[in-house]
Amino acid sequence: MTWLRQVLNLPSDSAVIQEAAAALRAGALVAFPTETVYGLAALALDESAAARIFVAKERPLHDPLIVHIHERGQMDALVREKPRLADRLAAEFWPGPLTLVLPKSERVPNIVTAGGDTVALRLPDHPVALALLRAVAAPLAAPSANRFGRISPTRAEHVLAELAGRIEGLLDGGPTGYGLESTVLDLSKEPARILRPGAITLEQLRRVEASILPDEARPRVGEAKPLRSPGQLPAHYAPRAQVRLASGPQAAIELLRECRRQQAAGQRVGWLALTEDRAQAAAADVSVFLASVDDAAACGRRLYHALRELDERGVAVILARELPDAGLGRAINDRLRRAAKARIGWHGDDD
Ligand code: TXA
Ligand code: MG
Repeated sequence: MTWLRQVLNLPSDSAVIQEAAAALRAGALVAFPTETVYGLAALALDESAAARIFVAKERPLHDPLIVHIHERGQMDALVREKPRLADRLAAEFWPGPLTLVLPKSERVPNIVTAGGDTVALRLPDHPVALALLRAVAAPLAAPSANRFGRISPTRAEHVLAELAGRIEGLLDGGPTGYGLESTVLDLSKEPARILRPGAITLEQLRRVEASILPDEARPRVGEAKPLRSPGQLPAHYAPRAQVRLASGPQAAIELLRECRRQQAAGQRVGWLALTEDRAQAAAADVSVFLASVDDAAACGRRLYHALRELDERGVAVILARELPDAGLGRAINDRLRRAAKARIGWHGDDD
């Protein structure tokens, strides 16, 4: 990487944006903040620039990229057809953390869509992201700025930790607002279906269109069911430590039992704790607090940073419990379940 710039005080720092935009136009990779997580940008309509993203992230070519735009009008050149629902949702949620999957136009290179005939579009709600997109004046392909399969970055230092030396630049906009990725909604078929739960909730979407379907029950590790969105790989969003997940009213007690069992086996245990579980979490070697069970937004904002912190503090096992499956809780539980691939065979109640 050749540079790291702080852009906390836009627009006075707009020279920085111009520099980043010029680098992108010349085919570089630049990481930037969005309202969800940090993205790793390259020109979306330039095949060789977009291809470099896959190399830097070690991302398989069958996993398509989200194309970011700064004006709704840019949609038309990128899609082949656009159901009315696309405009209604864009009017309601853009700029914001909703990604719409639509039939792609010929202008979108195949590498961006992983050879598929749909393109994922998003208009982010972050001053740095929007300033950058406007300065480049072209759509930017941008996956989360982490190595493939790992936790999405919610701070510039997370990007540095994984991609330093592989990218040309990084705009540091401080911690991101939601801390969870955008909701990916498939509008290429009817009824529309969520492919990845995220920062815009099912409840919010259904206020605009009641027929929208939730994401499908996800296949467990080892089940060879075809995946509709590669991001549905069960083992995505994984910290290095094993995640052990429990749910329901007895969750904290079950986790405490698991904590003791792991410690007896000589393991260093981390607890990704809700404030309500403070008493039990004190038994762990390291506890990191999210927020109250009633504040899913705060839990979401802290989730990835907390998982990274537990990893950094060298725990072998991370204990966590699910939130109620509603609102942002769905996206948080989705990420926890994927992180907990080791949960298979253990549901917190096997003794
Ligand atoms: O919040 C976000 O969406 C962040 C910021 C940077 O915008 N981006 C992000 O990108 O999370 P990424 O690549 O990490 O995740 C994109 C997800 C993946 O699960 C990918 O498989 C799916 O969107 N996706 C992309 N294009 C698709 C398409 N045409 N059809 C179905 N799924 C698609
Ligand atoms: Mg990602």
